[in-house]
Amino acid sequence: MSERSAPAAEPSPEPAAAAASETTRPVVGILGAGRAGTAFARALLRAGVAVDIASTRPPRALQHHLKIYAPGAVPVVGADIAARARDSSGLVILAVPQEELDEVDPDWVVGTVLIDATNTWQDELLPGWLQAAVDEQLPTSMALAGRFGSARVIKALNHIAHADIDDAARPAAELSQRRALAVAGDDDAARGLVMGLLDRIGFDPVSLGALAAGRIMEPDGPLFNRPLRREDILRFAR
Ligand SMILES: NC(=O)c1ccc[n+]([C@@H]2O[C@H](COP(=O)([O-])OP(=O)(O)OC[C@H]3O[C@@H](n4cnc5c(N)ncnc54)[C@H](OP(=O)(O)O)[C@@H]3O)[C@@H](O)[C@H]2O)c1
Repeated sequence: MSERSAPAAEPSPEPAAAAASETTRPVVGILGAGRAGTAFARALLRAGVAVDIASTRPPRALQHHLKIYAPGAVPVVGADIAARARDSSGLVILAVPQEELDEVDPDWVVGTVLIDATNTWQDELLPGWLQAAVDEQLPTSMALAGRFGSARVIKALNHIAHADIDDAARPAAELSQRRALAVAGDDDAARGLVMGLLDRIGFDPVSLGALAAGRIMEPDGPLFNRPLRREDILRFAR
């Protein structure tokens, strides 16, 4: 991701002040402000990355939630999630339950690298296009890549629990001492951008290669919710 300068101070909780002080910081967009979305936001903010975040709530209502769960993140509407990120990091994280994905407009993320951090849970009633992939035993990220065809979809951040995003990040540690996280995607440059982001927030990013290889990151796969090192992930990827 592009980075112009390190932050001089902690981000302000006020949106206008935050926006003004973030002109020199990379910006990442996050769709979804629940357990996962706010954990990603906290990790990014700690790493000096500015965050725009959207949920179903209007920004004014979301601001109260963010004061508690991700102070410094800037609430926006979904349609504006990439307005700043597109010209900055280029990255938007998708942290919306899969059963809600028909409500996420693909136009919101045109031209971005879209990090698919979502998972399929048995109790969810999935959109038809996603259920079709599940029925064919395809990785759901491949269906997302079709749905969000104007973005480059990369699977990442889905196989770590939100509490571990807070607890296991070690930005000051050597890569070999960090928890490893997998990255899968068909576009090499996009995969590299996401790996740079994971490194920045304190994890050891491990490329699995193509999006199809991300199958092992899903809830029934060997990487899911396990504190693994690079060598473990590479072993499971063979
Ligand atoms: N929880 C974890 O540890 C974890 C870790 C990694 C990945 N994930 C994955 O991330 C996804 C979200 O999980 P979660 O645990 O964060 O769920 P959650 O706590 O229920 O939060 C879901 C968030 O998505 C928002 N949302 C729903 N529809 C939306 C829409 N159309 N546009 C924008 N935002 C929308 C909700 O908005 P409101 O706030 O307005 O209701 C809420 O903020 C799931 O697929 C999950 O498997 C979860």
